Amino acid sequence: MTKNDRANFGSKLGVILASAGSAVGLGNIWRFPYETGNHGGAAFILIYLACVLILGIPIMVSEFLIGRHSRANTAGAYQKLAPGTHWRWVGRMGVLAGFLILSYYSVVAGWTLEFIGEAVTDNFAGKTAADYIQTFDSFSSSSWRPVIWLILFLLATHFIIVKGVEKGIEKSAKIMMPMLFILLIILAACSISLPGSGAGLEFLLKPEWDKVNANVFLSAMGQAFFSLSLGMGCLCTYASYFKKDTNLTKTAFSVSIIDTFVAILAGLIIFPAAFSVGIQPDAGPSLIFITLPNVFQQAFSGIPLLAYIFSVMFYVLLAVAALTSTISMHEVVTAYLHEEFHLSRKRAASIVTGGCMFLGILCSLSLGVGRDYTIFGLNLFNLFDFVTAKIMLPLGGLCISIFTGWYLNKKIVWEEVSNNGTLKVTFYKVLIFILKFIAPIAISLIFIKELGFLKL
Ligand code: PFF
Repeated sequence: MTKNDRANFGSKLGVILASAGSAVGLGNIWRFPYETGNHGGAAFILIYLACVLILGIPIMVSEFLIGRHSRANTAGAYQKLAPGTHWRWVGRMGVLAGFLILSYYSVVAGWTLEFIGEAVTDNFAGKTAADYIQTFDSFSSSSWRPVIWLILFLLATHFIIVKGVEKGIEKSAKIMMPMLFILLIILAACSISLPGSGAGLEFLLKPEWDKVNANVFLSAMGQAFFSLSLGMGCLCTYASYFKKDTNLTKTAFSVSIIDTFVAILAGLIIFPAAFSVGIQPDAGPSLIFITLPNVFQQAFSGIPLLAYIFSVMFYVLLAVAALTSTISMHEVVTAYLHEEFHLSRKRAASIVTGGCMFLGILCSLSLGVGRDYTIFGLNLFNLFDFVTAKIMLPLGGLCISIFTGWYLNKKIVWEEVSNNGTLKVTFYKVLIFILKFIAPIAISLIFIKELGFLKL
């Protein structure tokens, strides 16, 4: 594609919804609650919020301006803005991270399809918490069913990617995102009203600072990057389809606020309910899949029809939230192959889909028959999650902030952030200060501390 015939998002709302669609997904509803549960609750959430505000929003503006200015895929963007330098490796690392995340993320996205099936056939009715745990464990560790769902999910992503940016990505986000918000708010209200839910609220609101260590910081930072789709060029790729009048700072704030709001709502749904029925908050990746069926059955125990309708709607919307995120990861890798290797979009997309299917199947099997094969003590699924969320994304964020803060000509930064001087930019100096000093130092310190070199 030449510079001028690149696709664009059609409207401002479309820009925000598509970017928020990438950000809001399993990271908020599945990963945020279990990371919060594993790392002690409220203190983790406060550190997470600080990471979103201090690191997330400035790095998001950075990705936006790099993408819109270069109007290229993420590796191509660095090539254009810093020709002949090693900066292109930042883009390439992002593409690799996107590919790896898409592989294991699709496994969980596939689980949501199984749960749609369970909800539609009313299989949750009349069961206890122990039954839900048993059902989930035997499903997720079985060989065939999760693999079939994962393949179907990747095919759905593939289909939308091949249809193109505006028709596929923007349209689906516009309809489904508002529906998801409304349902989450209703479910949070239901969960809080369950008997014994107070302990869950306390877990969410009362920080226990003595449990905080370097790992909690690294996990909160990783979660912020993962949830905001940062550090791997995803929002950079989306911004390459933004129009010249899109307000980058405002979009970054809107996306981050929406994303954080959904994560907190997910916490407000999961923890009150988990404490109410006696499920441990540190149950790990299975947490939402064993807690939510309880919310539906208990909160609406007198009105089974409502329990049925809400559970079907919830899993459908969860699958859609996952889909708008898998589309964005797929787009990063597809745009890269399409533009850098001159493959047709269709062929590029097929390579990505095929590759992710292969790795995704291995990840899925690593939770069942392959659970004894571990690397650094982690099965493949957990290894992919660890390497991407806790290493590659923060490292990508570190490089992006140094690139914009120190390397990139400030005239370009100013032009993009102020839309060629047409916008009043209140936070410009703060933005540059954070990108130059705060973000690189904070991310490096967290890495170094986690590696054990720093005793604070
Ligand atoms: N932000 C997505 C979520 O929270 O589910 C996951 C994700 C999408 C991560 C795109 C990274 C990415 F580039």
